Amino acid sequence: MRLDKFLVDCGVGSRTEVKKILKNKQVTVNGQVETSPKCQIDEKADQVAVFGQLLNHETFVYYLLNKPKGVISATEDDRHRTVLDLLDDTARHKEVFPVGRLDIDTHGLLLLTNNGQLAHAMLSPKKHVDKCYRARIEGIMNQSDVERFAAGIELKDFTCQPAELTILSVDEGQQTSLVDIRIREGKFHQVKRMVAACGKEVVDLQRLSMGPLLLDPDLALGDYRRLTEEELTKLEEFGVGL
Ligand code: URA
Repeated sequence: MRLDKFLVDCGVGSRTEVKKILKNKQVTVNGQVETSPKCQIDEKADQVAVFGQLLNHETFVYYLLNKPKGVISATEDDRHRTVLDLLDDTARHKEVFPVGRLDIDTHGLLLLTNNGQLAHAMLSPKKHVDKCYRARIEGIMNQSDVERFAAGIELKDFTCQPAELTILSVDEGQQTSLVDIRIREGKFHQVKRMVAACGKEVVDLQRLSMGPLLLDPDLALGDYRRLTEEELTKLEEFGVGL
């Protein structure tokens, strides 16, 4: 590939910035200064360095975002900010997109990648990727709701697969409950609709996990980071392919 494309892909800067850096003799290929943007390199074998720092060319990138409320988990929207607006230029340049959707008022774990195959596998019903949500509920969830979730809640247009409802606490005075809900599907508003089918209402929804990935408690709302090697290995072992 062309050296300038490689440098842009690595997040060194825009094409114009990269040209300037090259002209200023700040790039080496296998230890030799290279100034031509057109220079052809083998991105797997050649050692490219900028300001003496070796670059690593990645095709696929993976980010874990703690999605805040108020942003849309899409790549563009006419009215609202999207999760891409939270990312820096390097991540955006890689053309990442969210793996699945969270409602605008849901917060928590969202995986972003430019690996379409991985996204497809994570969302495939065949892969049975568990998603766990913590929900604050208006109303008291009870044992009969736990059983309804386990049996598969019937909604107007489909019957949900069996799901796990764990009641963490109830506040009789406030008439609220805190629960964890584990589902394997990801239909539109699914958790909210399942809770509504039990006659109660979700007032706050946070995604805690997706498959082997857990929400990182050190990530503030709106913050994101690359997946660690350990998380990437877990994804691989999970069988979604990287
Ligand atoms: N279920 C919902 O109702 N909303 C979400 O954002 C995710 C799951």
